[in-house]
Amino acid sequence: MNTDKGRLIVVSNRLPVVISENEGTWGIAPGSGGLVTAMAPVIKRHQGLWIGWPGCGEEAPIDELIEKFTAEQGYGLATVPLSEEEVTKYYEGFSNETLWPLLHDLLGHCHFDKSNWEAYQKVNQRFAEMTAKHVSEGDFVWVQDYQLMLAGRNMRELGVKNTLAFFLHIPFPSLDIFRRLPWRNEILTALLEFDMIGFQTLRDRRNFVSCVREMVPGIEADIRRRHTFLKKDERWIKVGHFPISIDFTAFNNEARTQEVADAAWYLHEKLENQQLMLGVDRLDYTKGVPERFLAFERALEKYPDLRRKITLLQVVVPSRTRVHEYQVLKEELDRITGRINATFGEPGWVPISYIFRSLDKVQLLAHYRASEIALITPLRDGMNLVCKEYCAASVDNNGVLILSEFAGAADQLSKWALLVNPYDEEGTADAIYQAFTMDQAERRRRMRLMRASTARNNVHRWVEWFVEAL
Ligand code: UDP
Ligand code: G6P
Repeated sequence: MNTDKGRLIVVSNRLPVVISENEGTWGIAPGSGGLVTAMAPVIKRHQGLWIGWPGCGEEAPIDELIEKFTAEQGYGLATVPLSEEEVTKYYEGFSNETLWPLLHDLLGHCHFDKSNWEAYQKVNQRFAEMTAKHVSEGDFVWVQDYQLMLAGRNMRELGVKNTLAFFLHIPFPSLDIFRRLPWRNEILTALLEFDMIGFQTLRDRRNFVSCVREMVPGIEADIRRRHTFLKKDERWIKVGHFPISIDFTAFNNEARTQEVADAAWYLHEKLENQQLMLGVDRLDYTKGVPERFLAFERALEKYPDLRRKITLLQVVVPSRTRVHEYQVLKEELDRITGRINATFGEPGWVPISYIFRSLDKVQLLAHYRASEIALITPLRDGMNLVCKEYCAASVDNNGVLILSEFAGAADQLSKWALLVNPYDEEGTADAIYQAFTMDQAERRRRMRLMRASTARNNVHRWVEWFVEAL
């Protein structure tokens, strides 16, 4: 990317940090989630500026913490603080109880509330004001994700003339689903103020284009293989799909360290003569964790030779804990795990081992490296970076990936992963057995190809594609 002329300014709801207090001492550390994992190496490389919500209250010594972070990480942060009410209405409400389920095709989880929509508009305006304050001529402004779909229009109204791009990390649904949103036109027309709009998959891009053509009057569209050009009021907007990825080299190298090898060995030592099957997800109903547990239960019923020979190790990272739907999910998981373990467990073997917290990097890599199978079965997912990280960290080439056909990553890995429909309990149970019985040569062949594909299509290449398309 050519940054001679200006800086890269990333704008996202959340800053890539976790700010916390422990016994009176404040700390700042890199955050988690797909967006952060993907963007952090990019902005670091370009020494840019990241604008977002710090995710903490006003009592934190924010300036001091940011100075420390910038010195360590090599890029700047600018904060957009949110009041308690804005967190409830804009972040938890409109972003995560309306847009998140709607865009993931899960209409049954959606709440439509006018005052949440008003808060969403107000907060998008605040993000735009903060960006307008920092932006200089030649800077490239790159807005991320569903929480900030109006910010481009707000920036234009504030007179920002820079190149503005938007990338949606989550899926974009079909016309039939999107049209249920009472504020569909406002969102579509605001998005058209960007110069370029990027999606994860061709399907997402097509869905968006058909929504625009159907619902926004006076649109001209020129659809080509790589991009679609939309013309509105004499302006052309470029729309493309750019599957996001990971920093393959970093994951691959770190997974080879002695520290990770030791931690992986230790994890497996306690499960001698067993295969480890791993799931890693934020606690989110889109990730299909209850459905996954039920498919595992079915596999244990249908294939008795799996018993005592396989353990499902599920890491669940707490997320959006104040949203009701997420609390209900936690209770459901506890209940299903308890039932399966009580039904099938025996002295010395617990079928599902379930961790409810986040792991540090060494532990996460050790879990990837130690697991013979990864079971990644979201009901719907924009991309899913965990499956790509699993491949990058499978340095022993012995892992099998079972992957949902509804994850964006299936577009890249479908030839070598075992693809499943997460709603099909029987089919997923069969895939678990197929993975368990797959011979070493076949495992190696498939994993080598997935690693090569992920190494080629890494996050740095993703940025290059995106910026070149501009
Ligand atoms: N992750 C993490 N800590 C953990 C478990 C996961 O930081 O304990 C990271 C993981 O490495 C991955 C991200 O969280 O980069 C999850 O991204 P993904 O695209 O799979 O799902 P998302 O959470 O963005 O929906
Ligand atoms: C997904 C979304 C991101 C979000 C992340 C974590 O990756 O695409 O925009 O930041 O989940 O969710 P949170 O609500 O904690 O920011």
